Amino acid sequence: MKRITVIVLIFIMVFSLSAASVSAASKNTEKPERQEITSILPGNHKLSLMWNKVEGDNVKYEVKIAADKHFTEDAKTFILDGSDNDITRTKLTNGQKYYAKVRTIVTDENGKKFYGSWSYRKSRVIKDTSIYSNTSIRGVPELRYMTYEDNDDLLMLINKYYGVPSDYYPNDMVSIASKYMTYSNAKMKEVAYKAFKKMYKAAAEKGLNFKICSAYRTYSTQRSLFNNYINSRGYKTAFVLSAYPGRSEHHSGLAIDLLTGRNGWSLTNSFANTKEGKWIKKHCAEYGFIIRYPDGKTDITGYGYESWHLRYVGKTAAKEIMSEGLTLEEYLDKLPPGYKG
Ligand code: DAL
Ligand code: ZN
Repeated sequence: MKRITVIVLIFIMVFSLSAASVSAASKNTEKPERQEITSILPGNHKLSLMWNKVEGDNVKYEVKIAADKHFTEDAKTFILDGSDNDITRTKLTNGQKYYAKVRTIVTDENGKKFYGSWSYRKSRVIKDTSIYSNTSIRGVPELRYMTYEDNDDLLMLINKYYGVPSDYYPNDMVSIASKYMTYSNAKMKEVAYKAFKKMYKAAAEKGLNFKICSAYRTYSTQRSLFNNYINSRGYKTAFVLSAYPGRSEHHSGLAIDLLTGRNGWSLTNSFANTKEGKWIKKHCAEYGFIIRYPDGKTDITGYGYESWHLRYVGKTAAKEIMSEGLTLEEYLDKLPPGYKG
């Protein structure tokens, strides 16, 4: 009996050991989790992607980039070593929209490959941001690209060279409540409005108050404003203060101008020295806003310092732009960290 018990025990031990090693092996080779693209940045002839890193040995990533959303025509496939969780694809066509997706591949000790599901597809239009706008004082620069096909793009670039057509209308627009405004019937994109309300509440809790004096502007409103500037200040000054119609960020529904009573509701850079202006500069990125025309960046943006003009870009981009003192043009042209060329 005793001998049989020992044999049974040994059998159970061997069996459970081998079961444990099978389960460890199968753990290694389960289908990897889906990885989403966490950052997709267009630049001049390039597209940079990042996603989260998967821990473990024998990890690789497969990335597909194509000019059509079904990844059939002209799709490029890249297999990356698991230590690289970013890629920059260069020599792309400016003005063209590209699509990208990524998945994880894990190989077990027998060489068998396990594929994660593809990430959701992301897309961006490649933008030649290196053509900066320092020709602004010589007149209205030629329009290079229309950005209207990316209505949902929070990083939509509108500047001296990038415009929207006269009939462009941003989607998901909402009316702004009168308590936030110096006038009535103003509108902006819902995503930016929600962020603004949070920012307003946080400022109010510190005893601060500001109001929006300009939000969404149509092509014809911008045309009147621009013409007024030309008539009152002359061409040279008008081009540095005001956008040509179709090339104002206010047309996107993502930009707002702020005023405070602390400097007599004045639309001047005295706003920057008020408690409100200082608080905005320090905290706006936490809510997804940037100061779009910073001091000393006229050669890039084409506009003078506007401490009152905020642009919604989402928290990730806003935090990087504001903490590194960038313009949107510079941010869109940057390579992701860790890029090895
Ligand atoms: N003042 C800014 C540049 C605009 O007109 O959109
Ligand atoms: Zn503005």
